[in-house]
Amino acid sequence: MDIQSIKNRFGIIGNSPALNHALNTAVQVANTDLSVLIVGESGVGKEVFSMIIHALSPRKHNPFIAVNCGAIPEGTIDSELFGHEKGSFTGAVDSRKGYFETVNGGTIFLDEIGEMPLGTQARLLRVLETGEFIRVGSSKVQKTDVRVIAATNRDLLEYTQQGDFRQDLYYRLSTVPIRVPALRDRKEDVPLLFRKFAADFAERYKTQSVQLDPAAQQMLINYYWQGNVRELKNIAEQISVLSTDKMITAETLQRFLPARNTSRSLALITAATGLSAPGPTSDFNTERDILYKLFFDLKKDMNDLKQMIFDVAHHQGYTPVDPSSNALVPVYNDGELHSNNGYSPNTPILLETNDHHEDVEETLFLADREKEIITKALKKHKSRRRDAATELGISERTLYRKIKEYDIKE
Ligand SMILES: Nc1ncnc2c1ncn2[C@@H]1O[C@H](COP(=O)(O)OP(=O)(O)OP(=O)(O)O)[C@@H](O)[C@H]1O
Ligand SMILES: [Mg+2]
Repeated sequence: MDIQSIKNRFGIIGNSPALNHALNTAVQVANTDLSVLIVGESGVGKEVFSMIIHALSPRKHNPFIAVNCGAIPEGTIDSELFGHEKGSFTGAVDSRKGYFETVNGGTIFLDEIGEMPLGTQARLLRVLETGEFIRVGSSKVQKTDVRVIAATNRDLLEYTQQGDFRQDLYYRLSTVPIRVPALRDRKEDVPLLFRKFAADFAERYKTQSVQLDPAAQQMLINYYWQGNVRELKNIAEQISVLSTDKMITAETLQRFLPARNTSRSLALITAATGLSAPGPTSDFNTERDILYKLFFDLKKDMNDLKQMIFDVAHHQGYTPVDPSSNALVPVYNDGELHSNNGYSPNTPILLETNDHHEDVEETLFLADREKEIITKALKKHKSRRRDAATELGISERTLYRKIKEYDIKE
C-alpha cells in the first residue's frame, strides 16, 4: 500500500518529509510483532499512528485497546491491565480480567507510558519478555499474546536517569522508535490542515468553508502551535463557528490565536482555586473554549471601559476612593469642587491610576499566575506530580503539558 492511500484511509493530512518518514516507519513495523515507542508532543497524532500500525498488522481483526497510563490511579492500574482475583483488595468483590487477558491476540496502546508506576513497569516487562502475567492477588501464571505500542510526550531517557522509568523497559520498548514531528517543524502542512478542518466543518454544518487571506495564512504558519494538530483543529472550528465573515483576515485571526492560551489559564486557575470548573480540565472541547474566550474578552472590554471612565472622571475632577471599589467621589479643594484642569501627572491621584493599570495587567497575565500556582503546588509536593495534579484539580496529563509549556524547572 502506498503512503498516499494510507493517508487517505486514515485521514492523515500533510506532506512534510518528517511526517512521511514517520508514516513509512509505521508501515514497515506494522507487519512485525515488535513493540513500538511513539514519541512526540501532545496533539501531534500519536494515537492515530498507533491505530494505523494495528490496522496494517496481521492482528487487525483482533481487538485494539488504548489505555492512558496517566489517567488511571496508581492503585488500580495493575488490576486494569492484568486483572485481579476476588478479595485481593478492598472492593474487589469479584475477580476480573485485565486488558492483557481480554485483548489476547490483539494490540494494546499504552499512552503516556512515562506515567506508569514502577511496579506496573515490572509486570509489563515480564509480559513483553515472556508473554506471562499474574492477576493481582493470584499466584497463577497465565500466558497471553499481545502486541504493545507505547507513546510518550516526555523524555523517557531523562525519566530513566531520574529513576522513574526502568531502563530495561525503555530499551525493550524503543527497539523501533517513531518520532511524530511537531507542527512547528512541518509548517508547510499548516495551511493544508486548516483547509481540511475548515472544509470538514463546513460539510458537517452545511455552510460555506472559511478561507484565509494571504496575511492570515502567514500568521497561521508562523504560530507556535503548542498543542499541535489538536490545537489547530480546535482553532479552525472556533473560527468556523464564530466568524461571520468567510474570508479571514490576519486581524480576525489574531483574535483567536493568543486568547487560547489565556482561556486555558483561566480554566486552570478556576480549578486551582477550587471554584467549580465546568467539567474535567484535561481536554478542552470547542464549546467550552468558545465560552472561555467570550468570557475573557468580555472581562478585558470591561477593564478597558473602567479605565476609560476613570480617565474621563479624573479629568472632570472625580477620583475613586479606592481603586478596587470603583466608586467615584468628587475631589474637594478648600470646600470647593476641584475641577482638575490644572492636572499634573505628578499628583498623587496618578498612583491610583497605576494601581488600576495593574488590575488590567493582572487580568492579562493570568498565564503568569498559572505558572506560579503550578510551581507552588510542585514545591509543596516535593515534585510529586501526581499529588500536585490532584491538589490543582487537573489531570496529570494537563500538568505535564503545563510544565513543558511554561518551562517550569522542578
Ligand atoms: N496528520 C494529521 N492529519 C489530520 N488529523 C490529524 C493529524 N494528526 C493528528 N490529527 C488529529 O489531531 C488530533 C490529535 O491527535 P492524537 O489524539 O492522535 O494526538 P496525540 O499525539 O495522541 O496527543 P496526546 O499526547 O495529547 O494524547 C486528533 O483529532 C487527530 O485525528
Ligand atoms: Mg493521545
